[in-house]
Amino acid sequence: MTYNLLKGKRGIIFGALDERSIAWKVAVKAKQEGATFTLTNAPIALRLGVINKLAEECNAEVISADATSIEDLENLYNKSVEVLGGKIDFILHSIGMSPNVRKGKNYGDLNYDWYLKTLDISGLSFHKLMQTAEKLDIMNEWGSIVALTYIAAQRTFPDYSDMAQAKAILESIARSYGYRFAKSKKVRVNTISQSPTKTTAGTGISGFDMFFDYANMMSPLGNASSEDCANYVVMIFSDLSRMVTMQNLMHDGGFSSSGITKELFERLSK
Ligand SMILES: NC(=O)c1ccc[n+]([C@@H]2O[C@H](COP(=O)([O-])OP(=O)(O)OC[C@H]3O[C@@H](n4cnc5c(N)ncnc54)[C@H](O)[C@@H]3O)[C@@H](O)[C@H]2O)c1
Repeated sequence: MTYNLLKGKRGIIFGALDERSIAWKVAVKAKQEGATFTLTNAPIALRLGVINKLAEECNAEVISADATSIEDLENLYNKSVEVLGGKIDFILHSIGMSPNVRKGKNYGDLNYDWYLKTLDISGLSFHKLMQTAEKLDIMNEWGSIVALTYIAAQRTFPDYSDMAQAKAILESIARSYGYRFAKSKKVRVNTISQSPTKTTAGTGISGFDMFFDYANMMSPLGNASSEDCANYVVMIFSDLSRMVTMQNLMHDGGFSSSGITKELFERLSK
């Protein structure tokens, strides 16, 4: 079922790596809902070439940008406005990477250069992306900017390591920049806190399968899929949510409000 929710809207989607990526599903859904957009990812990710399949399917141009580089962001924005024929209505930040997690460093033995990289790529990039957008004045009034986050920003999940701090920064930036952008341009800024999802970034966390199953048992509706997440993101991009800003929106099947569930109780009592 489609509703033309994004008809006439122009956007930029960061972070579609492969078909499992949440950003990939958002792109497909945004296209179905009538949007036009550019796709972007870090040069190293684009070298895989998989994104070209999505670009073809969505009739979208792919523009390379490392989200931590202001120069890359400026180039991305200038080209996007040119290719799409006007200012931007929505941006998706779907970016996460921790060298410490990737290289199996435990939380008591972190490499601090890598820690700073984690914070830059997964947290500060959200600020860079908005500051650059504001300086170049590429956003339309009532535009909507969304970043994806995880509940480890509020509660400890040991193997999430330094990504927990990156997500806390990300969510805080959504509030601070959300205030600023609302005042200057009526642009909305939110984070969506998604259930564990079987993607490259997700499954890179050690013990992922176990906490995927745990979250599934702890969520009365079960884990939210990446397709469900895409639907929610599109709704937050749309005019139906125009007074929602500076929020961390839980999209987790009820996980964050559950103390214990019958399923978990039964499993533990075995
Ligand atoms: N998968 C999960 O369980 C889960 C749960 C909650 C939130 N999230 C968040 O969703 C977002 C998308 O992740 P995903 O699960 O779809 O995995 P994914 O691996 O498909 O996406 C992560 C993306 O980040 C991109 N990226 C990394 N470094 C970059 C850089 N310097 N510049 C630009 N892009 C860069 C990667 O190329 C990749 O496309 C992330 O923020 C992630 O933390 C994921």
